[in-house]
Amino acid sequence: MARINDNFLKLKAGYLFPEIGRRVSAFNEANPEAAKRLIRCGIGDVTEPLPEACRQAMHEAVDELGNSATFKGYGPEQGYAFLREAIVANQFADLGISADEVFISDGSKCDTGNILDIFGPGNVIAITDPVYPVYVDTNVMIGNTGEADASGAYAGLVYLPCTPENGFVPSIPDRHVDLVYLCYPNNPTGATATREQLEAWVAYARREKAIILYDAAYEAFIQDPAVPRSIFEIEGAHECAMEFRSFSKNGGFTGVRCAYIVIPKALKGYTADGTEQAIHPLWSRRHSTKFNGASYPVQKGAAAVFSEEGKKQVAALIDGYMGNATLLREACSAAGLAVYGGVNAPYVWVGCPTGLTSWDMFDKMLNEANVVITPGSGFGAAGEGYFRISAFNSRANVEEVCRRIGEIFG
Ligand code: MLT
Repeated sequence: MARINDNFLKLKAGYLFPEIGRRVSAFNEANPEAAKRLIRCGIGDVTEPLPEACRQAMHEAVDELGNSATFKGYGPEQGYAFLREAIVANQFADLGISADEVFISDGSKCDTGNILDIFGPGNVIAITDPVYPVYVDTNVMIGNTGEADASGAYAGLVYLPCTPENGFVPSIPDRHVDLVYLCYPNNPTGATATREQLEAWVAYARREKAIILYDAAYEAFIQDPAVPRSIFEIEGAHECAMEFRSFSKNGGFTGVRCAYIVIPKALKGYTADGTEQAIHPLWSRRHSTKFNGASYPVQKGAAAVFSEEGKKQVAALIDGYMGNATLLREACSAAGLAVYGGVNAPYVWVGCPTGLTSWDMFDKMLNEANVVITPGSGFGAAGEGYFRISAFNSRANVEEVCRRIGEIFG
């Protein structure tokens, strides 16, 4: 009798984005004419072509693989030194991070899920609400939760509500937790955390011997120089945090796949008998056992993000998406809706009109405007009453979305 992992049966419906995909496909089938004018602002997937510098580097890398003198087989599991060094020089200069503390992977979604392999059972896990659903579902899968209640909240998880009142940055819990996921700039609310807020979290984590899993996948969208870009800007974070970064949203690598985790050697966890244990060698062992490295052409393409040309091209992409975010903010405000985010992040978080739930709003936008958005309740109970619009789209499409928002709320 082949036993399954029963934890999978605790998962709610589908993962949010496939679920949206299913609903949109059903709509398209039933409304072939409307389907032709559908604009997708749901999943945060980039739409603009890869930067020329990245494409060029990938072409050259493929050519190297076609020549026996420069051919490469398996690469280093942790990632090529050229990429890890470029990351440290460009993203973590003066932050006390070394290249051997960087682990290259094929995506932050995978990383934030896979990291649970190295943590034992019995940890008290805190997540923000609303939250990127991967953090929750991967904890459910591995058995770190009980069942979900009617609102979708899982027994055993500590939910940290994020609301307009706290600027969508959770207050420090008045109880102990062992692992806490923080994502800033935030998906889905588009909020950012201030230095003081992150300092308070680092102080809490050190006091509680907890670890902060800091997801900074949207760091490149920060416009305000006062907003911290990395948890490692905070003193003491090297002892209590790891950071997830990605090339998906800055270099447009959602289809190419490349990301990394920074795990300082000073970061410690504890064995069952309370003995201190460095996290870095555990992840190194896990990564090199279950992963064979991102491909050489992809890592070459990622490193090109940090070339002079690459930096300019990425900046132009970010400017384009952030210009979209501004337009979407303005259109939603003009429609009389409460608007958050979209200033240092590519997501605009919008209050639903009175009386409409998040899924009502999803249906309204789909049926009346033929625009796909993401219902806030898909990110957790505290997301009910909100919806998320992604700024990842062409300018022409965003202008059209703004026009349609004006039309349906006009
Ligand atoms: C989102 O829309 O929340 C993101 O695209 C999800 C992701 O990056 O995996």
